[in-house]
Amino acid sequence: MRRAFGASLPTDEELAASREITEFDRTLAFFDGPEIVATAGIFSYELTVPGGLLPCAGVTRVSVLSTHRRRGLLTAMMRRQLDDIHERGEPLAALYASEAPIYGRFGYGLATYQASVEVQRAHATFGKTASANEQLSLVDVATAVPAFTRAWEQSTRGQPGMLRLDERWVRNLLADLELHREGASPHYRVLYQDDTGPSGFAIYRIKMDWDASGPNGTLRLEMLIAASPEAYAALWRHVLGVDLTARVTAEMRPIDEPLRFLLADSRQPKTRVEDGLWVRLVDVLKALAGRRYAVDDRLVFGVRDQFCPWNRGRIELQGGPNGAQARSTTASPDLELDAADLGAVYLSGNRFWTLQRAGRITELRQGAVARADAMFAADRVPWCPSHF
Ligand SMILES: CC(C)(COP(=O)(O)OP(=O)(O)OC[C@H]1O[C@@H](n2cnc3c(N)ncnc32)[C@H](O)[C@@H]1OP(=O)(O)O)[C@@H](O)C(=O)NCCC(=O)NCCS
Repeated sequence: MRRAFGASLPTDEELAASREITEFDRTLAFFDGPEIVATAGIFSYELTVPGGLLPCAGVTRVSVLSTHRRRGLLTAMMRRQLDDIHERGEPLAALYASEAPIYGRFGYGLATYQASVEVQRAHATFGKTASANEQLSLVDVATAVPAFTRAWEQSTRGQPGMLRLDERWVRNLLADLELHREGASPHYRVLYQDDTGPSGFAIYRIKMDWDASGPNGTLRLEMLIAASPEAYAALWRHVLGVDLTARVTAEMRPIDEPLRFLLADSRQPKTRVEDGLWVRLVDVLKALAGRRYAVDDRLVFGVRDQFCPWNRGRIELQGGPNGAQARSTTASPDLELDAADLGAVYLSGNRFWTLQRAGRITELRQGAVARADAMFAADRVPWCPSHF
């Protein structure tokens, strides 16, 4: 896998960190003689969806050696994985794509976006003064693991796109591998606690630099998670207050970062939007019935699915804020679309309207696109802050 990604072979430290999260019974390899020439894996996650939490196969470590590419090995691994996920009864699969054109053919739709941001500290004055009860501390790994796990758990509730992470995963986040330093410091780990206990944290590194005008360091924020507005503001105040740094950079931030509204200069942070999670409805009926909807309505979808034929056909969705049912029907469809398009709208990160404009969705009954958008709307923009 490392060879296929153009990287160096893993060190013992990296292998040890990887071992704890690897699910060997969900790991695939193709062998050519004794050599591994292709790999793929799955992490058994749970994903927050609007109004619920559903099992989700996190597809990862997909690679085919350059000597064996374009012979169908990826396609064979996708087949095996999706059949396995379906047999296990997991309604969803999700992944991060190295290149955007790879996974649409397997029914994955681009479901969330994320932002790469940069804040110039010189423009980072806060609009309001800080409240007094900011409870921040720098903590060691032993303290951070249970505390960050709790803060993560609290933040996952109600945030579509977030994966549940247990202590194993938080240890992995905190592994602080040499590979990830790229000339910057080891991790700084900041915990926010309030009366209820740990409710936010930040992990960052500092890359110091000096030039003729003085200190010109960069604070590289690896993660900032907050379960309350107080934790959120306190943690951003902290990272933007670290001396000797000129800027804060971060990847995988939410595209609707509230920081913009905390700062006097709302042109900060400078933001570039990138693709986030790709979602595959492996079992369309279960997936549609497993989330909640903003308004009560009934729609019939004509679903096309090249790769997972069990999803093909007419599906009636009846749902609202308190529950949903999905079943096969012979009724005439209101909308026709691919399973990948349902993946793209599933977490409310895209609108049916946008996909219709792009010629991907056909409206067969007038007004069906607007009704679908009203139904699938959610109160939060989906965001997945953890990579896999
Ligand atoms: C991407 C990768 C896994 C593809 O593996 P592969 O075994 O060559 O793929 P397949 O032979 O099964 O290709 C299936 C189809 O997808 C297309 N495809 C594969 N990779 C593609 C890419 N990067 N961009 C566009 N199309 C791609 C193929 O052309 C083929 O199309 P066709 O059926 O119309 O001919 C492989 O090139 C690789 O390992 N790349 C480097 C690591 C990487 O990016 N991994 C993905 C991590 S998310």
